[in-house]
Amino acid sequence: MTAPTPEQLKAGITGVFDRAAATYDQVGVDFFSRIGEELVRRTAPAAGERVLDLGCGRGASALPAARAVGPTGRVVATDLAPTMVAGLQEQAADLPWLTVELGDAEQPPEGPWDVVQASLVLFFLPGLPAALDCYREVLAPGGRLGYTWFGQGDESWSDIQRLLRDGIPEDRRPPDIAKAGPFSSVDAQHAFLEEHGFTRADTSAFLVEVPFRDPDHWWAWSWSHGQRHLLEQLEAAGNLDDVRRRVDAVLTERQRDGSLSFRTEVRCTLARP
Ligand SMILES: C[S@@+](CC[C@H](N)C(=O)[O-])C[C@H]1O[C@@H](n2cnc3c(N)ncnc32)[C@H](O)[C@@H]1O
Repeated sequence: MTAPTPEQLKAGITGVFDRAAATYDQVGVDFFSRIGEELVRRTAPAAGERVLDLGCGRGASALPAARAVGPTGRVVATDLAPTMVAGLQEQAADLPWLTVELGDAEQPPEGPWDVVQASLVLFFLPGLPAALDCYREVLAPGGRLGYTWFGQGDESWSDIQRLLRDGIPEDRRPPDIAKAGPFSSVDAQHAFLEEHGFTRADTSAFLVEVPFRDPDHWWAWSWSHGQRHLLEQLEAAGNLDDVRRRVDAVLTERQRDGSLSFRTEVRCTLARP
């Protein structure tokens, strides 16, 4: 099988998010919004500033940024998934200084921007090295780049992850891009930034805990975000029902012993050209 082109990779990723968008961040789990708010606390847009929010999804970081800059500022939020864009456009109706449009995070609109930010997006970009060079170009003097990415995962869920992945034929199992290359450690991330002309990088980490009411709640959440990719692959292989039965047995046990919650470390990096 030939390796997918960067354009095919992007179309695959954004297709998953487009199909997830109807329930994304709306199944009663405080995850993406909590992380987006934390990112904006760190990028700290001031009243009147210009913010570019890349891979905006349903606005986890774009909405708090818009509230922070107020009507004298400007936020442009872009995403390649049309249903994400349409959903956020609706939510942004009372914030006319927030513009939401289709756009590739690898080709940022011309600046200057005081803040370029992206919450849980950059590890999806096949062309991230060139994109970082573009972010440097479009940032205003004194501007900052801020983004979140995943740190240490919750090892106690590795059995469920294994059940999901083992049900997918090996040649269709997606690689864990969120933990690869520059996203493998804070040191690798800072070295990567430095190679692309960003200095004084600073990364902080925080824990996010997600409690689920019951196994169905976990499944609804899993369909509503990037994990949907694994579920779609299981469905395509005809293994979803079988894997669901096995996963439900583990989830039910966790519900019984009070451990039906997921906890993950999220990292937030801030850097300046
Ligand atoms: C994990 S979601 C994060 C969304 C939002 N930032 C949040 O925190 O909820 C990743 C988002 O990145 C978008 N995305 C992935 N690759 C992209 C690209 N090349 N250009 C623009 N958006 C992209 C997806 O469509 C999806 O909405």
